[in-house]
Amino acid sequence: MAKMDRMTEQLISADVVVVAYPMYNFSMPASVKAWFDSVMLKGKTWDAKDGSYAGLMKGKKALVLVASGGFYGKEPMASWEHALSLGKTEFQFMGYSDVRGVLAEGMNAGDENKMSVLTKSLRQVQDIAREWYGNGKA
Ligand SMILES: Cc1cc2nc3c(=O)[nH]c(=O)nc-3n(C[C@H](O)[C@H](O)[C@H](O)COP(=O)(O)O)c2cc1C
Repeated sequence: MAKMDRMTEQLISADVVVVAYPMYNFSMPASVKAWFDSVMLKGKTWDAKDGSYAGLMKGKKALVLVASGGFYGKEPMASWEHALSLGKTEFQFMGYSDVRGVLAEGMNAGDENKMSVLTKSLRQVQDIAREWYGNGKA
């Protein structure tokens, strides 16, 4: 419990949080899920008031970076993508005001694809960082 409390306090102390993980069986690795399960604490990062949920992390920003072996841009695979979508949902539930995500797809589709997708993803991350930090404010 003490370790979970420390992780929660660490998250609460941050104005910007970045998490990065691979897709495992269409979702996030169990260790990453365990981290979310540790820090999503009622009364700390979210609350339930007057019959509805309220995130307590207002004004904060979160960026979720995911790499996957396959492609999830089109149906039917789009409906199987629960790695990036779940990560973003968790932060939205905790009330983060600005939640972004980048999915580097097709990491197992050859080196050429890997390099072009990683270059594109890096550019997306740089654009987000510029937007968040470009004017000197986080
Ligand atoms: C246990 C395991 C499960 C995986 N499940 C999926 C999956 O469901 N869909 C997918 O597109 N890639 C899957 N992958 C591939 C990883 O997402 C991919 O290898 C990773 O994003 C690329 O990072 P790496 O170069 O460190 O392996 C899986 C990999 C492992 C090891």
